[in-house]
Amino acid sequence: MSVELGVELGRLRLRNPVLVASGTFGYAREMAAFVDFTKLGGIVPKTVTPLPRTGNPPPRTVETSGGMLNSIGLDNDGIDYFLENHVPYLSGLGTAFVANIAARTTEEFATMAGRLGEHIRKADRPGIDAVELNLSCPNVSGGVDFGTNAERAAEVVRAVRESCDLPVIAKLTPNVTDVRPIAEAAAKAGADAVSLINTLQGMAVDWRARKPILGANLGGLSGPAIKPVALRIVWQVAQAVDVPIIGIGGIATVDDVLQFLVAGASAVQVGTANFYNPSVSSTLVDGLAAALGEEGVSRVTDVIGTLTANELG
Ligand code: FUM
Repeated sequence: MSVELGVELGRLRLRNPVLVASGTFGYAREMAAFVDFTKLGGIVPKTVTPLPRTGNPPPRTVETSGGMLNSIGLDNDGIDYFLENHVPYLSGLGTAFVANIAARTTEEFATMAGRLGEHIRKADRPGIDAVELNLSCPNVSGGVDFGTNAERAAEVVRAVRESCDLPVIAKLTPNVTDVRPIAEAAAKAGADAVSLINTLQGMAVDWRARKPILGANLGGLSGPAIKPVALRIVWQVAQAVDVPIIGIGGIATVDDVLQFLVAGASAVQVGTANFYNPSVSSTLVDGLAAALGEEGVSRVTDVIGTLTANELG
């Protein structure tokens, strides 16, 4: 049975709902030996900032039960280098390319978005398909605040919408009491979609040394351990906003993908699983079509948001 896997996230059309998450796929070159990029719904490379950043002191990662902590600190070469060296490669991979940006101020976000928009206008072939705003990095001061405050998140989304024509995805943090007001504010400000969740802030301890293990003391928890939290938030946000949701958090199997879709996500990003199984994303696309076919579902969009909550007495 042939299954239609295409999905629409506002103005962004994807050939299927399986993307790879920022920070887990490098700038794609590193993964070329393992993944047929043309099979994917899209690629989100590592976050780019206005200027180069050296990132946080090592150790920057530590394995935890069912996951990992990272405190990379947005190590990257800055937007000039990105536009010159990574964008030409990323825009020719035969799949959607979603640039992920972070900045310290609303103005910086807007300026970066303007640079991306300008690059597209000048390019002689389709280039960047969307911009994902990293409003949620837990590892740098000045990053997490945008995603923990509805007004500031909305302000950034609005400024980015005004500075470029690209579809805008707001990537939100789970490190708040309730993500829904922030997702609602981002949607109202013009986000085409919201992606959630980024990592949960955490810590690992070397008790003998009486020290934190990570050089930056705290980090962001990802991997299968956070999947139940991510599912809960996707489901709650899906009932609160009208814009599409991209689910992220511990996705490693076809069942994981489908759990997020029925909970209300229109697409997913595979993150930490790329580190221990670099070809997992393309495997999931094949498996998704097969699983839907076995269920007699001919379009993936037919399962999105189909979860029915239990009646409470
Ligand atoms: O580079 C980092 O520290 C990762 C940031 C993030 O989770 O967005």
